[in-house]
Amino acid sequence: MKIAIIGAGNVGSLTAMRLAQASLGDIVLVDIAKGLALGKSLDLEDARPILNNDYKIKGTEDIANIKDSDIVVITAGLARKPGMTREDLLLKNSQILKDISFSIKLLAPCAIVIVVTNPLDLMTYFVLKVTGFKRNKVFGMGISLDAARFANIIAQEFELSVNDIEAVVIGAHGEAMLPLARHTRVKGIALDEFAGKDKTGLLVNKTVNRGAEIVAALGTGSAFFAPSAAIAQIVNAIAKDEKRVMGVCAYLEGEYAIKGICIGVPCKLGKNGIEDIIELDLNKEEAKVLKESADYISGFIKGLPCMI
Ligand code: LAC
Repeated sequence: MKIAIIGAGNVGSLTAMRLAQASLGDIVLVDIAKGLALGKSLDLEDARPILNNDYKIKGTEDIANIKDSDIVVITAGLARKPGMTREDLLLKNSQILKDISFSIKLLAPCAIVIVVTNPLDLMTYFVLKVTGFKRNKVFGMGISLDAARFANIIAQEFELSVNDIEAVVIGAHGEAMLPLARHTRVKGIALDEFAGKDKTGLLVNKTVNRGAEIVAALGTGSAFFAPSAAIAQIVNAIAKDEKRVMGVCAYLEGEYAIKGICIGVPCKLGKNGIEDIIELDLNKEEAKVLKESADYISGFIKGLPCMI
């Protein structure tokens, strides 16, 4: 299996490391910045004897090297700075992703494409439209990261193992995300019952703001350890045809009564990418908030550059 990662910043290079170490395939790391991908790939390669692992990794400035990739992960683009929302990156990052999408279409027409660049839901939509690929083959990493953050925050609050928490988040990967307390389970107990309404509200708020909290603390750049772990989990599900259900940003055609945008929902992932979209049973209030999240994303679509 050939896996290309476009963008050799923190998220891209850590993803390369995780995928190489998991022996998921031959890795190509691409970045237009002179020497960046090459330097990082040589460094990663030098660890092979220590790790006892013959993984293959190539770093390059030339996107032509993604040719015939089975999976392409797009992490290229600017990261937000303190005080910025993910949507503030819309124009610059869509310009960057336009050329990349054309290259993928031309060079790796059978690839499954995982979009990571922010604003995630809009960039996923944009790449889907520019490549013209089917919706099962282009989707975004966002809410599985948010669900991991939610689970971690709950575990910390109650001094529990993260293994006993199954967190569910749907909606936009951003301020309009929807951590679902009623569907989130602490060893089988719904979070809102387990934690009570007020505490649940605090945990939800902390989750929604976690990305911004990290951006503010770092001062420059955004999160990369958990994002790269979330990407690796998705690639693993595809490469090993695991049929796992996890939250990804998918193009909806009427599921959840939403049409024509990409938004985070639980999906079954396997060798064909998205193999099923799982529709959770939402109550009126949850459906209303999801609709607001979808409307928030829709509101930005007209701000995307021309897609042809
Ligand atoms: C975050 C970025 C990856 O949530 O969107 O940290």
